[in-house]
Amino acid sequence: MSHPVMSVDGVDLRDRPEGEALPAGAFRSATFFEAELEHVFEKSWVHVADLPELASPGAFVASRIGRVPVVLLRGHDGALRGFLNACRHRGAMLAEGTGNCGQTLKCPYHAWSYRTDGALAGVPHREEFDCRADGRGLAPIRVATAGPLVFGCLDPAAPAFTEWAGQLCEALTEVAAAEMKPAFRFAYDVPVNWKLYVENGQDGYHVQFVHDVLADLVAPVGSGAENVLEAHSSYTLAPVSAQLAQMVVAGGGPADPCIRFGHVLPNLIPVITPGDFSYLRIDPLAPDRMRLVARSFDPDDAPARALRGFREQSFDRTNRQDIAVVTRVQEGLPASERLPPGLHGRQLEVRIGHFERMVLAALRRGIGELVELRRAG
Ligand code: FES
Ligand SMILES: [Fe+2]
Repeated sequence: MSHPVMSVDGVDLRDRPEGEALPAGAFRSATFFEAELEHVFEKSWVHVADLPELASPGAFVASRIGRVPVVLLRGHDGALRGFLNACRHRGAMLAEGTGNCGQTLKCPYHAWSYRTDGALAGVPHREEFDCRADGRGLAPIRVATAGPLVFGCLDPAAPAFTEWAGQLCEALTEVAAAEMKPAFRFAYDVPVNWKLYVENGQDGYHVQFVHDVLADLVAPVGSGAENVLEAHSSYTLAPVSAQLAQMVVAGGGPADPCIRFGHVLPNLIPVITPGDFSYLRIDPLAPDRMRLVARSFDPDDAPARALRGFREQSFDRTNRQDIAVVTRVQEGLPASERLPPGLHGRQLEVRIGHFERMVLAALRRGIGELVELRRAG
């Protein structure tokens, strides 16, 4: 079906010819950035927390989906729930960071309190208000889990999470990721547009030129890596290097070990190996600023613990190598804006084009719905 021509701040939202990158304006424009938060993030399943921080009743994690603060809460009935992080009195944000609220989550402003299932529990000077307390509980959002990961979604019309994440659930089950323990975590403030970092996470071209440790772990280019493009995600199954394959097989692992590099729209890069699981989450802060949260899990057995120090160092080193090159792309944008759009390699960068098409499709859909609404109303 053809769609009406639409653009955001001069960036045409139509799909590019195969192999052509988005123009530089899509990585610089504040209007484009705001549209992404609204129409991409707020319509997607977004990684918001990890299960180890939500183990006990009353445990909470405050997070964000696009512009919207949300809170994940473990109920005293054992259920995991997600809510909009806003008090039903006058809207103060209820939770910050990570912690345990005990029996009730209490608003710091006028002390309205909520049970861990979201019901309104207490209103000081109740006689001041005519409203029914049972209609003023916390507003729920959709929540799903995969391995140790928790996702939230604000859009009731978005597909089910299992459909959204493609291979993710199955791949995490295969390596028993739900039983893994947190091994280490890093966070970095990076002065780049969030899409540039997501794209780097799907770029199989730079590995041999930018990375040392990572380049030693995967087999050289041309060794039969397989790309899988799904409706809201994509994966590369990359065979590991001969040296690592020998170690994996000797340790009782699979005969043809692969590393699965993934992307789940909008901003999660899962990396699943036969022995551990890591992710990069790219949180957009401004058109030219993002925060990278990078975490790794392992089985916490003797072989995993022996490798942890090396893995931790390599992970940080690899992230810093990526940050350096992606920052160069951001710094080059004012020059790139004067040039025709860049190019994507046919195999090694195929997932970047897929990502850009998913972003454009979400923008067209979101803006199209707004136009329809305006027309109807
Ligand atoms: S805004 Fe929360 S109690 Fe008033
Ligand atoms: Fe990299």
